[in-house]
Amino acid sequence: MLARAFRCARRSVARCNHTQASPQSSARTTSFGFKTVPEEDKESLVKDVFDSVASKYDLMNDATSFGVHRLWKDTFVDSLKPGRKAPVRCIDVAGGTGDIALRILDHAREKYADRETSVEIVDINAQMLAEGQKRFKKTMYHYTPQVSFHEANAQELPPAQFKDNTYDLYTIAFGIRNCTSIPAVLEEAHRVLKPGATFACLEFSKVGNPLLSALYDQYSFSMIPLLGTILAGDRDSYQYLVESIRKFPSQPEFAQMIRDAGFVTGGDHDGGAWTDLWGGIASIHTGVKA
Ligand SMILES: C[S@@+](CC[C@H](N)C(=O)[O-])C[C@H]1O[C@@H](n2cnc3c(N)ncnc32)[C@H](O)[C@@H]1O
Repeated sequence: MLARAFRCARRSVARCNHTQASPQSSARTTSFGFKTVPEEDKESLVKDVFDSVASKYDLMNDATSFGVHRLWKDTFVDSLKPGRKAPVRCIDVAGGTGDIALRILDHAREKYADRETSVEIVDINAQMLAEGQKRFKKTMYHYTPQVSFHEANAQELPPAQFKDNTYDLYTIAFGIRNCTSIPAVLEEAHRVLKPGATFACLEFSKVGNPLLSALYDQYSFSMIPLLGTILAGDRDSYQYLVESIRKFPSQPEFAQMIRDAGFVTGGDHDGGAWTDLWGGIASIHTGVKA
């Protein structure tokens, strides 16, 4: 399936190059990892990647990050303190197999004895959601109003289902870089949040220290696709995932995009609009709907 996706990407690149050569054409392009593809193709290419990795996604996350993604996700959710003041209605977009949703519900219950906080998990990919549903069946949240799964595009959440000014907390973890239009995702986040509510994004980011950056590049470009081949039989998807990290905007650029969508953020520094984790390998951005 992935081979098909990448053949398709190559075709798209060819079409795109052709298009760029033509001054009459107005085709818009975007990045798919290091490739440039027509905007309308990215969604299906990304879908093919996650169709391919869905069944091995959790295992591969542990293998490629040595489990560190768990610490980052714990830090992310702890920093948001869901349930501290009162139960919250959350939407976890690009929620995949439910890693963030589960942490939100556990945090609210374990820290604040809150069994009313709820999370709506939204993802464009049915197979990732199916893995999440399988996993939630083993938890106390299964068949409760605290969790639900929805197949939808972060860039255009159906307004009848995801109404304006509805949620207290919007989370998106390692998902926004896969979306074709980051501003469209942010605009939707702003629409569905209540005034005063929080947007929070955990995403791979830019490493400040040049030595750490070189080591991290060396590791990610050599080891991650290799682990993808060995453990999941899929090099291309993991190559894309590494490349897509490098294409994501820097911390100040992303903070500006969040402000452009109408959120108020802290100052343009680590500890303000964002908090770096592990020197910027990942970072948490937050904004409050004005
Ligand atoms: C790397 S996974 C992250 C999953 C989960 N949030 C986590 O942290 O483990 C990225 C997810 O983004 C989803 N995704 C990609 N593009 C999307 C879009 N336009 N709308 C909604 N979900 C999308 C993928 O299907 C995939 O499940």
